Order: sequence, then C-alpha cells, then structure tokens
Amino acid sequence: MTTHLVTGASGQLGQLTIAHLATLVDPASIIALVRSDEAAARFAAQGIQTRRGDYKDSASLAAAFAGVDRVLLISSSEMENRVAQHQAAIDAAKAAGVAFLAYTSVLRAPENPMILARDHAATEAHLRASGLPHTLLRNGWYIENYLGSAAQALASGQLFGAAGTGRIAAAARDDYALAAAHVLRGGHDGAVLELAGDDSFTMADLASALTDLAGKPIAFVNLPEAALAQGLVQAGLPEPMATILADADARSGDGAVFDQSRILSRLIGRPTTPWRSLVAKALAPQQA
Ligand SMILES: NC(=O)c1ccc[n+]([C@@H]2O[C@H](COP(=O)([O-])OP(=O)(O)OC[C@H]3O[C@@H](n4cnc5c(N)ncnc54)[C@H](OP(=O)(O)O)[C@@H]3O)[C@@H](O)[C@H]2O)c1
Repeated sequence: MTTHLVTGASGQLGQLTIAHLATLVDPASIIALVRSDEAAARFAAQGIQTRRGDYKDSASLAAAFAGVDRVLLISSSEMENRVAQHQAAIDAAKAAGVAFLAYTSVLRAPENPMILARDHAATEAHLRASGLPHTLLRNGWYIENYLGSAAQALASGQLFGAAGTGRIAAAARDDYALAAAHVLRGGHDGAVLELAGDDSFTMADLASALTDLAGKPIAFVNLPEAALAQGLVQAGLPEPMATILADADARSGDGAVFDQSRILSRLIGRPTTPWRSLVAKALAPQQA
C-alpha cells in the first residue's frame, strides 16, 4: 500500500488536507506528522496513524519518513530559519527514499515581491536541487487572512489595510487543502501549480460586502505600509512579523496575490468557494 505522510498535520491546512485525503485514499495509508501528544490523540480518535517529527530535529524527521512513499510538506509557521527547517525535511525525505514530495509554496514564488516569498523561493530551489520528484503547490492568499480585520471592521466601521485598489484572488483554506489532497494522492507529479480563487476582490469590495453584512457603512481605510506595520505592533504583533505582514499587504496591492489561471478550480473539480459566502458564513454569528 502506498503511504501518504502530511507534515504540519496539526495545523489548520493539515487537518483539512487529511480530512479530504481520507476520502481519496485508504485512510490506513495516511500518516499525520505531529509534534504534540494532543495532536496525536486527536488523530488517533479519527483512526489516523501519527508519527512525531520536528523540522528543527533532523533525527526525528529521518525516523518519521522511514518507509513513506509520498509526502506533503506544509511550510512551517515558525518564521525563524524557516528555509533551514524546510531543507531539513527535504533532505530527510530524500535520504529515507521518499518517492514524491509536494510543497506548499506561494503564488509565483521566484518572482513574488513579498518578503515572505523569499523563504518559499529558496525552499523550491533546494527541492529542485535535491532531485526528489516533486510538485509545487503555489498557494495564493487564504480568504481567512482577512477575517480578523473584517471582524474588527464590523465593530469599528473601518477596515484597515495597505493594499489600495489591488485585486486579491484569495481562496478558502479548505480549497487549497482539497487541492493538496488530490496532488498527494497522485496524477499531478512534477507540476508547478499556481493556485488562487476563481474570483478576486479589492479591499473596497470587501468593505462593501461587510457593509451589506453589518447593515451599516464600513469604509476601507488605505494606510501607508509603515503605518499599517506600526498599527500591527500596537495591536501586539512582534515587529519582524508586523513588517512581513504589512509588506505582504502592500505588495498584494501591486498584484502579488492576483491570478486568473483557475488552476485551483480545475484541480478540485468545482468552482472555488466564493469569498463573499465564506466571509458571510464566518462573520454572520457576530451580527446576532
Ligand atoms: N497562503 C496563505 O495565505 C497563508 C497564510 C498563513 C500561513 N501560510 C503558510 O501555510 C502554512 C499552513 O497554514 P496553516 O493555516 O495550516 O498554518 P497553522 O495552522 O499555523 O499550522 C502550522 C503548522 O506548522 C507546524 N509547525 C510549525 N513549526 C514546526 C516545526 N518546527 N516542525 C514541524 N511542524 C511545525 C505546526 O505544528 P504545531 O501544531 O506542532 O505547532 C502546525 O501544524 C503555514 O505554516 C504558513 O507557512 C499561508
């Protein structure tokens, strides 16, 4: 039986991917790579086997990848030395004789001007150099990235950002998860997949949708990138993270997360989840 291992399994994308994968392959072939007892127990309750592994502990990765055929490497959420973490996972997979690895990158990674794209471009280069058969899941933005500021906007009447009039082809995290599950099952080996939502929106469109949802005016306030970064620091984010997020928002104003390829919907066999419905579903209870 071909075995399928998903790293970052405890995370939001990982959990959704495993749920979809379990409908596409024999659930007994799925291995969730986790770091905590709590995550291991959650998967055990679902009948999914787990192994332990940390991107910062090469020995744990070597043991985790032993006998595994296909791996989904979900990019780390720990930003410090992220490339080294990913390299350790790729090297361990290669050494263990893994046959295929899919990596969750970012839209047009090598040319994407966002600061956070640099780690993805470096990881992609390492993966190419490794000679390991692979697929690049170049994920665009999650619609969910906007839910925090949208919820604040419902309360305050102002939606803050730095993306100006840029169009954002975000997609639901669950749609990217379904795509990842399809790729891990097989049939797309060797592909470079630029993945994004079928529809796009501007921040003004999002403010307008929130206005409809709230039944009161919500205005988009476009801030200079530095002011947005400062606001994020004041809201409690560490400065390096605030800089990266403000940069990402400003670059999305230049089209860094816009795409019209519709590769994602073709891959998952249905239109991507409309952004308006996701936002309405996520935020409607707050209106009660
Ligand atoms: N496209 C987008 O809009 C977007 C937005 C946000 C993030 N991302 C990227 O996409 C990834 C997946 O998104 P998500 O929403 O699932 O993020 P998430 O919920 O924060 O999950 C991150 C996962 O990475 C794991 N992880 C972190 N450090 C690790 C390490 N040293 N070794 C092994 N595993 C480690 C976490 O494990 P623990 O539970 O053990 O901590 C968790 O399972 C993120 O990590 C980030 O790189 C993309």
